Amino acid sequence: MAAKLFERTQIRSLPMANRFVRSATYDSLADREGAVTPALIDFHALLARGGVGLILPGYAYVLKDGRAHVGQLGAHDDAMLRGLTDLAQAVHEAGGRVALQIVHCGAHSDAADTGEQPMGPCAISTADGPICRAMTREDIDRVVQGFGDAAARAQRAGFDAVQIHAAHGYLLSQFMSPFYNRRTDAYGGSALNRGRIVFEVYDRVRQAVGREYPVLIKLNCTDFLDDGLQLSDVVLTAKRLEEDGIDAIELSGGTIWGHRVLGDVNKMAFRIVQEEAYYCDAASLLQREVETPIILTGGIRSYEVARDLVETGVADYIGLCRPLIREPDLVMRWERGDLHKSACVSDNACFRPIREGKGPLRARDTRIAAAREDRGPCGEQERAASGRPRLHMPWSRPPAPPTRHALHKRSGTLPNAAPIVDSLIVQEARSSSAAPACRAPPTRRSWWSASSCSPTSRPSI
Ligand SMILES: Cc1cc2nc3c(=O)[nH]c(=O)nc-3n(C[C@H](O)[C@H](O)[C@H](O)COP(=O)(O)O)c2cc1C
Ligand code: SF4
Repeated sequence: MAAKLFERTQIRSLPMANRFVRSATYDSLADREGAVTPALIDFHALLARGGVGLILPGYAYVLKDGRAHVGQLGAHDDAMLRGLTDLAQAVHEAGGRVALQIVHCGAHSDAADTGEQPMGPCAISTADGPICRAMTREDIDRVVQGFGDAAARAQRAGFDAVQIHAAHGYLLSQFMSPFYNRRTDAYGGSALNRGRIVFEVYDRVRQAVGREYPVLIKLNCTDFLDDGLQLSDVVLTAKRLEEDGIDAIELSGGTIWGHRVLGDVNKMAFRIVQEEAYYCDAASLLQREVETPIILTGGIRSYEVARDLVETGVADYIGLCRPLIREPDLVMRWERGDLHKSACVSDNACFRPIREGKGPLRARDTRIAAAREDRGPCGEQERAASGRPRLHMPWSRPPAPPTRHALHKRSGTLPNAAPIVDSLIVQEARSSSAAPACRAPPTRRSWWSASSCSPTSRPSI
């Protein structure tokens, strides 16, 4: 019998050859206009030949004012269709499946590039100046429509699915997080109000692609920020999306704010930590609350860890990003029986060539060359030069025991797991009607020079 990791499954109309998903990875390989290039196609065809069940290319912006980088993929205009079609076709010809991740980067869009002031749920300024303006109702409608149009383009281009990017501190995740979102209108306050734009985006995407097309979403379980996103909020959002018909939830965490403003890379998705599967506990909790398949991403490096996560029902699919930069054929290697851990040491050195517009494979090539010349394993030189301690990344926690939901899935005898986070939800959920006119942050922060919690009121705090 095939190991569960290599079972064939189906996400709505999407056949999955195994349970591995290449988590979306920005690669700087699109051209200045956001169009697909031959290098981008080659990279994804290589990944497809490496055996991963589903590939998500880097996040594709839905509107020009929501782009964070030159070199980022665009899905904002019909002019992108030709390249997107070539990309989907190349992945299919290489035997793979591909889903387009669509995003608006909100407060973290690049003003210098787009020529527009970035926008977010509320206006934010730091000591270095304003980061973004507060969005109006018209802005929200435009963004929602942008997601719908981009999803329709992905479908027309032949992608097997779309994924709505609502994680990592980009626009939709900014709305979900009380750290960024202090609005007092219908889009702020309670968890479901903060999630309203996400539900509207999902609805518009669904209208655009129809009932049979797989629509996935990437959600944060935490953003590591004081007064930030709570897991109970995520559970409520996930349940609502499940009711509405979402097909899979990728669970991640962290926010770009952590890096850009707080200078802490471990507040981002691509953490430099020893622990594998660092969002495993959150996934374990979420899977008791929803039936929707969960893709768990973040720090998974060992075959045994991936296997245990799937076999205990904590995750239905395993998301991998950096391990597939280091070894694009890792899944095939594991399938063939070489079960050694991924060679990726999670040092994030792949960002250097990406920043230079060379694509992530350049990092891998440099590392392989270094290893061949016997200058140490991947990342070792930089580690030694920086004086950082050597990383050990054992599976630092025993695998989670089978949960009620997992048992239910296996035996089919237990009723749906009772909600186990009720108390948390009661504690965290806020009623929008009870929200003050314009909530100031609970703790005074130097970076909040103005909080435009509703677009019309701008109190200084
Ligand atoms: C170079 C790089 C680019 C990334 N680009 C994206 C992206 O476009 N969209 C996204 O949702 N996450 C992106 N991520 C985050 C990954 O998808 C993933 O959530 C994170 O790296 C943790 O998984 P890992 O430990 O397997 O790398 C990126 C990560 C890296 C290292
Ligand atoms: S540069 Fe570092 S983090 Fe990136 S793929 Fe290589 S080992 Fe992994």
